[in-house]
Amino acid sequence: MSSTEVDLTQVAEGQIVTVKWRGKPVFVWNRTPEDIAKAKATALSALMDPVARNANLAADAPATDENRAAEGAGREKWLVVIGICTHLGCVPIGHSGEYDGWFCPCHGSEYDSAGRVRRGPAPENLAIPPYKFVSDTKISIG
Ligand code: FES
Repeated sequence: MSSTEVDLTQVAEGQIVTVKWRGKPVFVWNRTPEDIAKAKATALSALMDPVARNANLAADAPATDENRAAEGAGREKWLVVIGICTHLGCVPIGHSGEYDGWFCPCHGSEYDSAGRVRRGPAPENLAIPPYKFVSDTKISIG
């Protein structure tokens, strides 16, 4: 089992970096307070996929911003998602689309600032891989 370590000091506020984990792109986003506020202000009833899709939580955990972002005090700004559109697997483009998250150029799906699908045809939120903090400034994915 291979894991990928990410030095979070290299990710400026507002920046999304892409790292590779098991051959897949993983997006690590240092969200701004505005990004977080927008995600928190979204009602669960407005979501197309109400499930968190977070490998670190129970399979039926709801897709609140708390359940999508990193856990722990001061860590809610970190969003870690597998960068593969849940429709047919294209790589979405960050900081684009109407919902301030990602836009998939293949068929137009859009994701919000918690990586939750807001416009189809993608059926599910961007998946969150297993990861943990190994220090305050470093995560290990996988
Ligand atoms: Fe992303 Fe189809 S692969 S919308």
